[in-house]
Amino acid sequence: MRSILVVGGKKLEGTVSIGGSKNSALPILAATLLISGETELLNIPNLNDVITMIRVLRSLGARAEYCEPNTVRVWTNGAIKHVAPYELVTKMRASFFVIGPVLARMGLAKIPLPGGCAIGSRPVNLHLKGLEMLGAKINMEHGFVIAKADRLRGNRIYLDFPSVGATETLIMAASLAEGETLIENAAQEPEIVDLANFLIRAGAKISGHGTDAISIKGVTSLKNEDSYKIISDRVEAGSFMVAAAVTRGHVVVKNIIFEHIEPMVTKLKEAGVSVTVKGNSVVVQAKKRVKAIDVKTMPFPGFPTDVQPQFCSLLATANGTSVVSESIFENRFMHIHELKRMGAKIRIEGRSAIIEGIPRMSGAPVVASDLRAGAALVIAGLAAKDDTIISDVERHIERGYENFAEKLCALGAEVKEII
Ligand code: EPZ
Repeated sequence: MRSILVVGGKKLEGTVSIGGSKNSALPILAATLLISGETELLNIPNLNDVITMIRVLRSLGARAEYCEPNTVRVWTNGAIKHVAPYELVTKMRASFFVIGPVLARMGLAKIPLPGGCAIGSRPVNLHLKGLEMLGAKINMEHGFVIAKADRLRGNRIYLDFPSVGATETLIMAASLAEGETLIENAAQEPEIVDLANFLIRAGAKISGHGTDAISIKGVTSLKNEDSYKIISDRVEAGSFMVAAAVTRGHVVVKNIIFEHIEPMVTKLKEAGVSVTVKGNSVVVQAKKRVKAIDVKTMPFPGFPTDVQPQFCSLLATANGTSVVSESIFENRFMHIHELKRMGAKIRIEGRSAIIEGIPRMSGAPVVASDLRAGAALVIAGLAAKDDTIISDVERHIERGYENFAEKLCALGAEVKEII
């Protein structure tokens, strides 16, 4: 596995442009299976996870390709297949998103049950319970979920937890169901709104997206008239905002949607970082060591769990003791063990990390356990006294960040791949 060398002590200065959202691209690509004909998607990031989803669509009989660097076209004329390949779903659990569209279009879906990952067991019980509420018969056979329904029927579904994935699965399935579906205690993330907007553009009848109650009136078919541009990636934006703050730099982060990154802006300001909004950019500047703050991850519009590891890297060198609480995933502190190898003073108590800030961390060889932990370790390396080598990084960072090292180097960092 390729590794990344990060030379510590370089201030980040300049402008970085944020790409399209990975967590919008993946469900929207799955949703193209609901649409007969051609779909063109713009602002799609060039990521390994997107390539995997494109392969899943192809395995189901669709044609799908990057026709330009950040444009993907999908063609799904006629019937699609109903079995998704095990090796692709285990490679990327978001492949499971195809279950709703395939079931809605074909009346039958055979999708491998996704495994857990480093951050938690990641069950899909809420997806399956919701599909049963829509009339599907769900069975498990040899690690595959087999869902059957001649025609899905609208229903009132209450989600025990505002699961992003379950909300997306049910929006997709209900779009072609008979009658109206109401999803209560729905997730409100910007990626949910983006998916709904994409489907509405294709003729779906959806309202309430972005609130905790989403109504979907089923239609008989969906068709795309023109291209759809997905939203920018709020997690990539948050990662670069933290990188600017931890290196005491001065960075313009372009192509952001302010209300999507407001939770992170609020917490950075609380930590004494200057963040000013200029149109579709924010200017992040930190002249001194940040102040210790408390952070608790919550479903949107709360603080995003996907930026929690990056904030731990920032607060590891804050002035004072911070408490970071992770309420979404049960095992999302793997990065803490690696930050401690860099000298950070952190102890974990239940779902909280107690971070006693130190002036500077030292470089060290560390291992990326998952996508966002990898980004957090690169960020920690930027501010360290000396060099940090992050291994296993190809498998993780390139899944979710387009040109991460190149973008950091363009801001003055010294980050390079080493074989
Ligand atoms: C999406 O994952 C994102 N992934 C995650 O980003 C993100 O961290 C997460 O939402 C929360 O915002 C994509 O969009 C591809 P959930 P998802 O269902 O849909 C439990 C990244 O780094 N749960 O909201 O899997 C689950 O165990 C990734 O980009 C159930 O119990 O998240 C977790 O504790 C990481 N049963 C909590 O809900 C279910 O059926 C949140 O999961 C579903 C979820």
